[in-house]
Amino acid sequence: MLARTVTHALVGLDPWRVEVEAHIQSGHPALAIVGLADRACQEAKERVRSGITSAELSWPKGRITVNLAPATLRKEGPGFDLPIALAVLSASRQFPPGALAGHASFGELALDGRLRPVVGALVAAEGARRAGLDRLICAAESGAEVALAGIEPVPVRHLAEAVAYLRGQRGPPPTIHEEARAAPHAPELADVRGQERARRALEIAAAGSHNLLLVGPPGTGKTMLARRLPGILPPLCDDEALEVTRIHSVAGMLHQGSGLVRIPPFRAPHHSASTAAIVGGGPSPRPGEASLAHRGVLFLDELGEFQRPALEALRQPLEDGFVFVARVLGRMLFPARFQLVAAMNLCPCGARGDPALDCSCTPQRLARYRERFSRALLDRCGPRRDDAPAARGQSSLRHRASRQPRFASGVIVARAELGRQPPALTAEAGDLLTRAVDRLALSGRGRARAARVAETIAALAGRAEVEAEHVAEALSYRAPAEVAG
Ligand SMILES: Nc1ncnc2c1ncn2[C@@H]1O[C@H](COP(=O)(O)OP(=O)(O)OP(=O)(O)O)[C@@H](O)[C@H]1O
Ligand SMILES: [Mg+2]
Ligand SMILES: [Zn+2]
Repeated sequence: MLARTVTHALVGLDPWRVEVEAHIQSGHPALAIVGLADRACQEAKERVRSGITSAELSWPKGRITVNLAPATLRKEGPGFDLPIALAVLSASRQFPPGALAGHASFGELALDGRLRPVVGALVAAEGARRAGLDRLICAAESGAEVALAGIEPVPVRHLAEAVAYLRGQRGPPPTIHEEARAAPHAPELADVRGQERARRALEIAAAGSHNLLLVGPPGTGKTMLARRLPGILPPLCDDEALEVTRIHSVAGMLHQGSGLVRIPPFRAPHHSASTAAIVGGGPSPRPGEASLAHRGVLFLDELGEFQRPALEALRQPLEDGFVFVARVLGRMLFPARFQLVAAMNLCPCGARGDPALDCSCTPQRLARYRERFSRALLDRCGPRRDDAPAARGQSSLRHRASRQPRFASGVIVARAELGRQPPALTAEAGDLLTRAVDRLALSGRGRARAARVAETIAALAGRAEVEAEHVAEALSYRAPAEVAG
């Protein structure tokens, strides 16, 4: 006897339809799973057998073959347990034939028949909705996520509950639409004392979604400032919220019943993070930090400590808004349009920029430090300047300056936005920008970026046109020689 049901496998962020067929023939009792199933899928045999017997259903006599089609698609993970079990039960007529019509299912089975949620429920459910199916049988924990996809969930806690439903002994349980959780309390910008320039830079970067580098001596509040950015970002619109929720679903990072992710994500990976952790990858590729930060903020604290390959790998998402992850069969694309916020000291020992201290870094060490991030992340728009005279001047002032406040400042780098109209500048603003381009030897890109930052500053001031003062302020957030190298 033969039975079929449908499920959806995840390929990156996309659902792929998989037909699960169970065929029972007379013969020596055995269960075989065919159709390019990975190890976790092969282990489904034990879970399905044990789950069915624990649910006080009967394990069919004879030789059972389960086929996962198309055979060319590699099937990964435990999400096939439930559809396999349902196909086997249907083939052995333990509920009416036809009961599975219009249904998709996915879920992992525990040995006692309880259902466990799997990652990517939202994406798999979107696949089922697009395939024209009406209902999706899943673990109770996945119900709310499935409902987000616009398909009716049949959330169950146990395989026995799924079978009772298919026998018509109970209707689909009502979905619990949980209240979206209150936004976690974001720390307030008002907690930060002084540091007007860095705060202003943070506000401009938030308003225009620009990349921001906070620089300054240790203990000036750079980390504190960056962590306050989420509190001033606007919430996500519907489309953005769905995109972000999809990525977090596939990464298994949605909290149960949290609903759509409405708050822009704020990701702060540690500087020891590997390249794969930052941009994604692995044998069955999962989104990395850059994608988890999609439509939100990627915060790299202690930028100078990050590994160079990891920083280099961020160039593509910074330019294009997505990452390509290599996999066995071709490449996979994950969206990664984030706002980069980074914090660093001006030199490895941290003393640079602090009037009370002497920097002990050798020129080579300093060069290596800057090399690591400047080419990868900053538009190198200024000619190399020797900052030795400034450093000498500082140390002679050391005594007097020791009680003076120390400052952090912000470098704003507008994000590349292809195809957008250049902002409207007044004649005076245009002149000022042109003169700055000559004086600072800005590249075409450097000019466009300064104009974008000026546009945000004008918008914050409620002006339709970019005026000279806005350009002047935008130019003041360019990387100083101490940073750009
Ligand atoms: N401007 C400020 N206003 C209020 N508190 C501050 C300020 N600057 C520093 N602090 C306090 O000092 C502590 C250290 O600040 P923070 O860690 O943000 O500095 P940092 O610039 O990131 O230093 P580092 O370069 O060592 O990482 C914070 O926990 C905060 O309580
Ligand atoms: Mg810090
Ligand atoms: Zn130093």
